[in-house]
Amino acid sequence: MTSKKMVEALNKQVQAELYSSYLYLSMAAYSDRKNWKGFANWMRVQAAEENEHAMKIFDYLLEIGEKVTLLAIEKPPTDFGTPKEMMSAVLEHEQKVTAMIHKLYELAIAEKDYRSQIMLQWFVTEQIEEEAQVQEILDKIEQVGEKSTAVWWIDKELKKRGKD
Ligand SMILES: [Fe+2]
Ligand SMILES: [Fe+2]
Repeated sequence: MTSKKMVEALNKQVQAELYSSYLYLSMAAYSDRKNWKGFANWMRVQAAEENEHAMKIFDYLLEIGEKVTLLAIEKPPTDFGTPKEMMSAVLEHEQKVTAMIHKLYELAIAEKDYRSQIMLQWFVTEQIEEEAQVQEILDKIEQVGEKSTAVWWIDKELKKRGKD
């Protein structure tokens, strides 16, 4: 059985994943405004992925016959500074999400909710990849510095995401 507490927490995670999508969509708009087309593309792909994450939990809740309650999604910021500042904000956000997933997993263990544990394992693994991916971009920015030619090169690299 899935407890009321667990259903509530899973609904909150749907909200968090949708907020992530919203945040990255706002970063996509910001990047486009700055004409960082590669960052804009990367953020769009990221936003779509976060939407898929929300739908994974959404579908899980329905599959086990529990109620999906969509909660209000907060308005994300509209300005994100330099590419380095923006990617740092992404990393920070992903670390927050990782902590949320771990808390959910702990709850599933405490409640002996085996099916939720299995469903959440995918997210535990996914968060490792998400953080590593963002860290890699941040490291690249760090290594080349924030000179316009260097950022131009990284921007060009990020244009490829979702297109191979
Ligand atoms: Fe996510
Ligand atoms: Fe994420």
